[in-house]
Amino acid sequence: MSSILITGGAGFIGSAVAKELISQGHKVKTLDLAVLKNVGYHKMGSILDPYSVTTQMRGSDYVIHLAAALGVKRTEARRLECLYINIQGMVNVLEACVKNNVKKIVFTSSSEVYGNQKKVPISEESPVNPISNYAITKLVGEEYLRAYHEAYSLDYSVVRLFNIYGEEQRDNFVISKFVRAVCQNKPPVIYGDGQQVRSFCYVSDAAKGIVNSLFCKEANGRVFNIGNDSEPISVKKLAEKTINLIGKNGISPQYVAMENSDRTKKREVYNRIPTIEKARKVLQYSPKVSLDEGITNVINYWNRNELKV
Ligand SMILES: NC(=O)c1ccc[n+]([C@@H]2O[C@H](COP(=O)([O-])OP(=O)(O)OC[C@H]3O[C@@H](n4cnc5c(N)ncnc54)[C@H](O)[C@@H]3O)[C@@H](O)[C@H]2O)c1
Repeated sequence: MSSILITGGAGFIGSAVAKELISQGHKVKTLDLAVLKNVGYHKMGSILDPYSVTTQMRGSDYVIHLAAALGVKRTEARRLECLYINIQGMVNVLEACVKNNVKKIVFTSSSEVYGNQKKVPISEESPVNPISNYAITKLVGEEYLRAYHEAYSLDYSVVRLFNIYGEEQRDNFVISKFVRAVCQNKPPVIYGDGQQVRSFCYVSDAAKGIVNSLFCKEANGRVFNIGNDSEPISVKKLAEKTINLIGKNGISPQYVAMENSDRTKKREVYNRIPTIEKARKVLQYSPKVSLDEGITNVINYWNRNELKV
């Protein structure tokens, strides 16, 4: 049994990672700005406060660092806040790792670091080409890990997450938005022509990939794509699939100019499909949840929790 601190552990992916670790018999502590109700291992606090990070990390063998400012719109509108949380916060976490003699840290980077690529699927060897403030901060975080390893021998792995979705995701992400709209008899809104292709990965699969990277010695100092490459789908087809799964076939998607979306045209990433061969081979990572199954879980969640209030 190991003791693990999860920053951002009250968040969507962080809480799934906590569940996975607890199910494997590990001891978990979380640090997050948000409240995690009735959970003894959670402490409310900011990674911007070095004291909070260092004290909550005390006694931890490992750290999984997920706390971040995210969402392309928010991180473009509040650039300095994004720099502060994602870079200064990262440095605070790394400093605390050194002070607490942590064995290894896993950092959740993002597929956004690849930006638009000529060649898809995207592998870890694809050139990085970040086109947003958020993506640049993630790449800086990766570089900090390398530098802290050089300077202090702190072991690390980087996981670049590709479009993770699931029940408790905030509803400004596409699958939650589509499900919520259609359940409420509204059209799912598509920005642009809907031909953007994504490869969605269910959150429990991603959590397993993150946890596997933590305990795999062969993963030290390496970068892994974590996603699900089995069902790439255009946003248009995703909207149609959601409508079919909910059984509201009278509803049609509504098309809106890209300019009104989270992203401008310039910041849109058109084809985002990973290859996850490296994670399959090194981490024994193997995503299991199909898109139909995952979307159905999100639909059931909204029906249970949101629409009854
Ligand atoms: N969801 C995805 O598809 C996706 C894709 C790529 C990368 N990621 C990365 O995965 C991580 C988790 O993302 P998520 O989707 O669970 O988002 P989320 O917003 O649910 O989780 C992030 C958590 O960080 C916390 N946080 C923010 N600022 C903080 C601070 N100063 N101190 C402490 N906690 C703070 C938030 O309260 C939140 O609970 C992030 O690092 C994100 O960049 C997510």
